[in-house]
Amino acid sequence: MARKILIAGNWKMNMTGAEGAALIKEMKASCNGACCCDKAPEVLVCPPFMTIPAVKAETEGTPLLVGAQNIHWEEKGAFTGEVSGNMLNEAGITHVIIGHSERRQYFGETDETVNKRLKAALRHGLVAIVCIGETLEERENGTTEAVIERQVRGALADISADDMKNVVLAYEPVWAIGTGKVATDEQAQAVHAFIRGLLKQLFACPCVADNTRILYGGSMKPGNAAGLLAQQDIDGGLIGGAALKAADFLAIVKAAMA
Ligand code: PGA
Repeated sequence: MARKILIAGNWKMNMTGAEGAALIKEMKASCNGACCCDKAPEVLVCPPFMTIPAVKAETEGTPLLVGAQNIHWEEKGAFTGEVSGNMLNEAGITHVIIGHSERRQYFGETDETVNKRLKAALRHGLVAIVCIGETLEERENGTTEAVIERQVRGALADISADDMKNVVLAYEPVWAIGTGKVATDEQAQAVHAFIRGLLKQLFACPCVADNTRILYGGSMKPGNAAGLLAQQDIDGGLIGGAALKAADFLAIVKAAMA
């Protein structure tokens, strides 16, 4: 089974509901079939929680998917500032990003909390995009693979092969996020192949390694997307900055169809 390419926009803490809806409107006006023809990849946008209803309303009747940027592991309770799976279900979204490096860096996210959030996402029938990636220091120390292995094993603890049907991994080298410094095609492919190898070790059924999508994220732009997406083990992109401009995001979607 060929892995379907997923092009996902991580809007982070950008754009109000009105601005987000306007961006979707612009994408619809200029997509020229890029988002809905046979060869089209899955196209997802992940706006901030508050703006999901406005953005979602604008996507009605299109194949555009809408996701969130986080989920809490408890169903409800005294967890100020958090959002539960029920709330995301009520909003009618399909995907959720988990363990983004900004959450790990600024909000104390650990491999253990990533695992708990992943389990909550799966319980609520959401497709989880689990982010992993090394810092510049870790790359320079030669510990990239050890870090990735720890993050993958931690995130996927107690996750079954069946659960993996709803898990997407996103390799995002921290040094490439928002810096304009993109991993080379070869650097990215090498880590993606390493991650797929880990999945082979972790799950007895080879179907997991074969079918799990591994996205690349970190300064993916119209100019470098085609090269990255052409790599054997790169199955899409998680895009920050370039997802905030309709023309750039659509250019990446088109690069995925080449
Ligand atoms: P970037 O962000 O494309 O702006 O580097 C990617 C991400 O953080 O998901």
